[in-house]
Amino acid sequence: MTAPSDTALVPFVSVDHMMRLVHHVGLRPMLRGLAEYIEADFKRWELFDKTPRVASHSAQGVIELMPTSDGEVYGFKYVNGHPRNTGEGLQTVTAFGLLADVSTGYPVLLSEMTILTALRTAATSAMVARALAPKTKAMAMIGNGAQSEFQALAMAELCGIEEVRLYDIDRAATAKAAANLSGQMRVTPCTSAEEAILGAGIITTCTADKQYATILTDNMVGAGVHINAIGGDCPGKTELHPALLDRAEVFVEYTPQTRIEGEIQQKPDDFQVTEMWEVLAGTRPGRTSDRQITLFDGVGFAIEDFSALRYVRDALPGTGLGQMLDMLADPDDPRDLFGMVMRAK
Ligand SMILES: NC(=O)c1ccc[n+]([C@@H]2O[C@H](COP(=O)([O-])OP(=O)(O)OC[C@H]3O[C@@H](n4cnc5c(N)ncnc54)[C@H](O)[C@@H]3O)[C@@H](O)[C@H]2O)c1
Repeated sequence: MTAPSDTALVPFVSVDHMMRLVHHVGLRPMLRGLAEYIEADFKRWELFDKTPRVASHSAQGVIELMPTSDGEVYGFKYVNGHPRNTGEGLQTVTAFGLLADVSTGYPVLLSEMTILTALRTAATSAMVARALAPKTKAMAMIGNGAQSEFQALAMAELCGIEEVRLYDIDRAATAKAAANLSGQMRVTPCTSAEEAILGAGIITTCTADKQYATILTDNMVGAGVHINAIGGDCPGKTELHPALLDRAEVFVEYTPQTRIEGEIQQKPDDFQVTEMWEVLAGTRPGRTSDRQITLFDGVGFAIEDFSALRYVRDALPGTGLGQMLDMLADPDDPRDLFGMVMRAK
């Protein structure tokens, strides 16, 4: 039997290697680096093939495929969202993804993306907040699950946040997040969402519940804040009272997907929104006054995963991380796949 050629071997980043990559680069520099890659791709938004993600819904959750391409590189992510999983000791969100060379169609990277999704979601939140939020040193973090510490640290790294005010209906989740973040920033555990948002210039909602939830109502939120609403991300799963959307300037990733999955699913199809890439490219305004409420209705878009995979691909060389997978059949004569199988006996 002949050994597979180099083009037939695909680098694979396991969970273990992703964790080692995080420590090799450093968590905060990696969040900053991811934000740079995501922002660079948002600034060339029009180049990309875009489609709302392909979602398969069930009573328990959703399984989704998120593809995109910039014409040279193609990427997709497989991701699930199952809010009841944590009760069974499983994660709400797990993921893996792939990059491929458009010119040959050959995969060039396969990676775990559960950790990478938490990193890229945090990097996206902070990239958006850096462009829209008022000057502030304090944020509220409502929902203290798997995403929460990454969210807080990305806001610290990119937006200068020094205090995180934590709230979760499950006190054990708040205690976990407080312990994980202690020593990294000032941590204030709170016993209600109202208490958490006191004095916070950035309010992140990142809860998991498959219903039209009202984590924030209109009368709870004062003028001039930035809301980073990222937990509501599929049909029938939202976090904000619709009246709050009327008071805010709403920013989204890709409008056709957000109308299906985001907070704005509660609004008519002509509800006014601004796509974030336009703000970053300088063609649409971001925050226009101190008293304005800016609201990022973040659902997670394929380009963010594409950027994150690009970042990992570029960060890997020289680290000794990533194992080569014999993933692609590679007959010496490309048309003799059958012969290769028979000779393997
Ligand atoms: N927008 C994006 O790109 C993106 C990316 C990843 C995850 N998400 C979504 O973010 C959400 C959180 O993800 P996770 O991995 O942290 O989930 P998780 O299950 O680990 O944590 C969710 C937390 O929300 C808490 N919670 C539920 N209802 C609440 C309420 N009413 N008030 C306060 N806290 C409440 C739960 O107790 C839990 O601790 C999920 O809905 C997920 O689908 C969005």
